[in-house]
Amino acid sequence: MPNLLHSHFPKIIAIANQKGGVGKTTTTINLAAALAENGKKVLLVDLDPQGNASTGLGIGASERALTTYDLLLDDQPLSEIVQDTETNNISIVPATVDLSSADIELYSNEKRNHLLRDALRQPDMSNFSFDFILIDCPPSLNLLTINAMVAANSVLVPLQSEFFALEGLSQLMLSIREIRELANPDLRIEGIVLTMFDSRNNLSLQVEQDARDNLGDLVFKTVIPRNVRVSEAPSFAMPVLAYDSTSKGAIAYRALASEVVNNNVNTS
Ligand SMILES: Nc1ncnc2c1ncn2[C@@H]1O[C@H](COP(=O)(O)OP(=O)(O)OP(=O)(O)O)[C@@H](O)[C@H]1O
Ligand SMILES: [Mg+2]
Repeated sequence: MPNLLHSHFPKIIAIANQKGGVGKTTTTINLAAALAENGKKVLLVDLDPQGNASTGLGIGASERALTTYDLLLDDQPLSEIVQDTETNNISIVPATVDLSSADIELYSNEKRNHLLRDALRQPDMSNFSFDFILIDCPPSLNLLTINAMVAANSVLVPLQSEFFALEGLSQLMLSIREIRELANPDLRIEGIVLTMFDSRNNLSLQVEQDARDNLGDLVFKTVIPRNVRVSEAPSFAMPVLAYDSTSKGAIAYRALASEVVNNNVNTS
């Protein structure tokens, strides 16, 4: 039976792939922007010590007094930790390199797998009336990523359209299965999105075919094209939707967002 008290609780999506440079941060920022454009209120949690999502949304180093580190390990009120960004409807908990020591400090904490879950589910969260919380994970299956998967309702996996893409995926799927068994039985796969797709490149087409053959409906219909506007946007501290609203990248991320909004049926 649905719990009415929690009916306005945000949907939490972890954007994860242990492989580096596959488009996790780009997808987190631009999916957030496309949801925000649709009137959804989004909190982006930067869970990567590299802090790329924070930088990409214009949160400079001096504006990161309280960060995801404090969210996990300090008793700071959410109202102090959550910040607005320049983009309407997107708030953020930024990250700094401090978070890399959190990964180590967490090992000695008996609640180490559940800290993010507890932090995001504290009653104060409902005051913000977020519709979505998107978690940008680091390129590793470390405790930070485990925290994201324990906290999340679903995992969205960016898959770069290149040769070894599918190899790492089976490791990620095993980890998701393990998290389900140990800590978060309701964890879903939101979907797998092909990124940096180049339709003139046979390899991209082959990876797409392999992914659709092996993973079926788990693969989003939308593919994100390789698009120079997407890669330029972060240096202007904005999502591509703001930087070049009619670019192929912006259009693709809007299509992805509408799949996510309509995606309440994936149960595998
Ligand atoms: N669709 C795209 N078109 C062109 N460039 C892209 C696209 N998506 C991502 N990039 C570029 O690829 C690089 C890696 O992307 P991104 O930082 O999003 O990956 P990541 O998985 O978050 O990396 P990390 O594992 O280091 O956190 C960046 O320089 C980004 O600008
Ligand atoms: Mg990243």
